[in-house]
Amino acid sequence: MRIDIVSVFPEYFDVLNLSLFGKAQAKGLLEVHTHNLRDWTHDVHHSVDDTPVGGGAGMVMKPVVWSECLDELLGADLREPDTADEPDTSDTSDTGGEPDTADESAEPTEAPEITETAAKRPVLIFPNPSAPLFTQRDATELSHADRLLFGCGRYEGYDARIPEYYRTRGVDVREYSIGDYVLNGGEVATSVMLEAITRLIPGFMGNAESIVEESYTGDNALLEHRQYTKPAEWRGIRVPDVLLSGDHGKVDRFRRDEALTRTNEIRPDLIEALDCRKLDKADRKT
Ligand code: ADE
Repeated sequence: MRIDIVSVFPEYFDVLNLSLFGKAQAKGLLEVHTHNLRDWTHDVHHSVDDTPVGGGAGMVMKPVVWSECLDELLGADLREPDTADEPDTSDTSDTGGEPDTADESAEPTEAPEITETAAKRPVLIFPNPSAPLFTQRDATELSHADRLLFGCGRYEGYDARIPEYYRTRGVDVREYSIGDYVLNGGEVATSVMLEAITRLIPGFMGNAESIVEESYTGDNALLEHRQYTKPAEWRGIRVPDVLLSGDHGKVDRFRRDEALTRTNEIRPDLIEALDCRKLDKADRKT
């Protein structure tokens, strides 16, 4: 899998050379390229943002800088522009902000070279606190992609036309939130999604079994049961006796009951979403 990450703080991703992620790169499972968005600016200040059209606080990332960057990185994978779907950007009558200076808002003069659409489309992901939640299901789906490109926004976010435009160019564009809180930018959210996705790539984890039984995995996702290791008693607290019994049937039942009970307490929404047909009789008693 090839991964490109665009950010105004590409150093955030230096840590990707560590640990399993570093090993996966050394093994050739992953190829990671980080890019500084400011490399696609042309002004002395390398500015990537501007005031929001319609007014309001904060700054919004400019589509012109992002498009120069993304046209270059995605060039070979971009489909011919679908003019019928293209947003009409000519009407600025409802803008409440400052007008752009002519040269800053101009599109790049040279269009990217367009070749055949790739059999597997690249996936362009924008972290966004106002987007649908990123789930284990998304991580599983994206672990099969050949190419992921993350666009890390800062400030009040990025111009909404950027994802809209790249959809018209045949790119599979996704916007995801990693949780109901607001971070300062998309870098941490990208790291979270990257880790959730890449650990599912076959060969990434040392022990493939460890990802089969964990929380949020499978059709009927439950929180995982709690884990213990030796000693059997520590500081007066004992491991549940059943786990020491050697009876695998009882251990499995105990763990399953605990997963159901804990999920019901902590995440009742996951219990609501369960497909009852996939529960066994003993589950129903819990
Ligand atoms: N950027 C800022 N906050 C975010 C969040 N919660 N999820 C994804 N991207 C973000």
